[in-house]
Amino acid sequence: MPEDSLTIVDNRTSTSYTIPIKNGAIRAMDLRQIKTGPEDFGMLSYDPAFMNTASCESRITFIDGDKGILLYRGYPIDQLAESCTYLEVAYLVLNGELPSRAQLDEWAQEITQHTLLHENIKKVLEGFHYDAHPMAVLASTVAALSTLYPEARNIQDPKVRHLEICRLIGKMPTIAAYAYRHSLGLPYVYPDNDLSYTENFMNMLWKKTELKFRPSPVLARALDVLFILHADHEQNCSANAMRSVGSSHADPYLSTAGAAAALSGPLHGGANEEVLIMLDEIGSKDKIPAFIARVKAGECKLMGFGHRVYKNYDPRARIIARIANEVFEVTGRNPKIDIALELERIALEDEYFVKRKLYPNVDFYSGIIYEAMGFRPAMFTVLFAIPRTSGWLAQWQELLQDSAQKIARPRQLYLGSPRRDFVPMAQRSA
Ligand code: CMC
Repeated sequence: MPEDSLTIVDNRTSTSYTIPIKNGAIRAMDLRQIKTGPEDFGMLSYDPAFMNTASCESRITFIDGDKGILLYRGYPIDQLAESCTYLEVAYLVLNGELPSRAQLDEWAQEITQHTLLHENIKKVLEGFHYDAHPMAVLASTVAALSTLYPEARNIQDPKVRHLEICRLIGKMPTIAAYAYRHSLGLPYVYPDNDLSYTENFMNMLWKKTELKFRPSPVLARALDVLFILHADHEQNCSANAMRSVGSSHADPYLSTAGAAAALSGPLHGGANEEVLIMLDEIGSKDKIPAFIARVKAGECKLMGFGHRVYKNYDPRARIIARIANEVFEVTGRNPKIDIALELERIALEDEYFVKRKLYPNVDFYSGIIYEAMGFRPAMFTVLFAIPRTSGWLAQWQELLQDSAQKIARPRQLYLGSPRRDFVPMAQRSA
């Protein structure tokens, strides 16, 4: 009997099967041989929401949810947040190694070349109502880029893939800034390629009539660190959407639009917006116990808490809580931080949260910083999507280079009606 194997006895037939174990997992396809007879399709594994199913092998991001560890390509997130720029981390996530000085300069130059949007995109944006949600605008506009770059369909060509990766990372902040200015009726600001990735984003958001926008170095660095923290997070809902859409060989713009759509939901990236709405609703510290009681009664969720993988403090939330103080030195203290800190203190002592291992996640504090910087809550998830684009593209690239991957196509357990004959309208009961 091989040591790395699993023996399963099917009690229906008293048959024993030995299945190999590799990397701590069995292949679900190895279960198919388990049959009650020749007519039997074979055993499936049933796993709604992928609670215990690995959909791929990956070498990009590692999370130990019990210990609260997050590594990009092996490097701890806190070390990267301390020492890198976002573009350096994006290079690492996409290419597997930290860049040399020359590689980083070339990479930054390549991304910078692609910050401009085709003028037609302005017409796309004009079609949106001023109060359209910025995430819907972002996802739609990214999809619209597909109409401008038909060569992007050539996904098997590494040179084309690289070009589209640079275009997407370069254009994402420009789309986000245009969406923001469109909502305010302000003229669009063209990219300033003398500035860094994050500084230029701030320029496109906030430049008024001055000749040169000069961002606060503290806020630019804080935003860059927030971008690093959001660069990738292994097989989360939007990465899975990216891989799933990409597995049909859709082009990277449409795949990214699908990933952005997945991110927009309040259980995923949309949670940062929901946290601010929740803090506004709570209003003051004395209302927290009543709010916690409502959460425990199942009336609502404590947004920004809980995670599928982390059953310990999300390491990103720790770093964000630290950045908040640096930002407040420039912007003034956002009073919502005090409600959030008290909420966290009370929740972490409460048996409901302790028993379920519910800790603050990345979205709990990020919105408070974004608000202090001047963003309104509807923009928060867009600020998540910009840096996550590098992670989505890294996942997409890995998918396309993985010979084990095919079009994503789950099975189902059909529990509906068996075959039956059509009933004409006149014979149907009410
Ligand atoms: N507030 C109150 N109860 C919660 C919360 C919460 N935020 N999160 C989970 N629970 C409870 C849940 O009701 C369940 O209780 P019970 O066992 O009594 O039924 C238990 O904890 C386990 O939760 P689950 O829903 O089975 O866990 P999940 O892995 O399916 O969901 C989650 C993970 C992130 C969707 C969920 O924790 C949640 O909805 N959190 C609030 C939204 C949020 O902050 N999302 C951001 C996630 S991190 C960043 C990102 O991915 O974008």
